[in-house]
Amino acid sequence: MPAIPSPDHAPALGRHPFSVAPMLDCTDRHFRVLMRQISCEALLYTEMVVAQALHYGHRRRLLDYDPIEHPLALQVGGDDPLLLAEAARMGEVWGYDELNLNLGCPSERVQAGRFGACLMAEPDHVARCIEAMATSTSLPVTVKHRLGIDYQESYDHLLTFVDIMAEAGAQRFIIHARKAWLHGLNPKENRTIPPLRYDWVARLKQDRPGLSIVLNGGLTTMADCRQALTMCDGAMVGRAAYDHPLRWADVDGAFYGHSPRHPPRPSAIVEAMVPYAEAHMARGGRLWNVARHLLQLVQGVPGARAWRRRLSEGAMVRDADLKVLRQATGELERHGY
Ligand SMILES: Cc1cc2nc3c(=O)[nH]c(=O)nc-3n(C[C@H](O)[C@H](O)[C@H](O)COP(=O)(O)O)c2cc1C
Repeated sequence: MPAIPSPDHAPALGRHPFSVAPMLDCTDRHFRVLMRQISCEALLYTEMVVAQALHYGHRRRLLDYDPIEHPLALQVGGDDPLLLAEAARMGEVWGYDELNLNLGCPSERVQAGRFGACLMAEPDHVARCIEAMATSTSLPVTVKHRLGIDYQESYDHLLTFVDIMAEAGAQRFIIHARKAWLHGLNPKENRTIPPLRYDWVARLKQDRPGLSIVLNGGLTTMADCRQALTMCDGAMVGRAAYDHPLRWADVDGAFYGHSPRHPPRPSAIVEAMVPYAEAHMARGGRLWNVARHLLQLVQGVPGARAWRRRLSEGAMVRDADLKVLRQATGELERHGY
């Protein structure tokens, strides 16, 4: 049996009971800055950045972030150990806190590049990728994967896969607790149709107590996350963080020992985002890039729908300026939000 890394890895890795999942088109730098207004401790992940794009593409556009985003993990996708090693070095130079390899995405585009979830069929190759990353950087290298793919789905298979990755140098295992069907289901269906099996993740933690295991998939409330933390080391939330950002206002108090605080008001958050949006626009960006993530800040209260409509109509216009955000703040304040 492969050696299991000792918990000595933990200091470099840090303790992260709560994290926000990587989500393409959602967890860009603007959303991450928004999440930082809500929790200063949650570990944030970038959207997946393809290693090949980093090699050939516009690195600053792909890697730049705001210092407020720390702790921040760079998620990479790829299957070429050399390119992944290069991506790992770039991640370190750019000051990220962790490098994460995507082994869970089942999209056809990603499969065509032979990375994401389909790599779960090739554990030895995955091990080479992880080794290449781990030996190229002093940052912790972590993985995000599924329980299995297609018909390759058994607890023993999962355990063997995790052991091989641990031996190769992976330091945290974020497990989207359902399998993925590589053919027949699209990515959205692959996030809902295969059943969640939290019991497998709990069993894995029992069988490998020295490994850092994070549960992902279907966690929608603080209570769900508390429950996850009774089974393993961390809870990662994806869609529910994007769709309901303020639901997570108590993360720092509940999971990081901060003293409880009043949940931030949506108006205060929008106001805090104004200087950030201003800096983004000064770099040539559009207001909408930032404002689109603010729409879900106000929900389920009188006037919320009208507020969202006005903000989106105002901010979507090509030359929209900061007045739109200031007006939005004023309107929220008038309603007491
Ligand atoms: C719009 C969207 C984009 C996603 N993009 C990524 C991605 O880039 N990398 C990744 O590992 N997972 C990605 N995922 C999967 C999420 O990270 C997460 O594993 C999944 O949504 C299950 O968690 P949840 O039930 O908390 O949403 C994406 C999910 C969504 C909804």
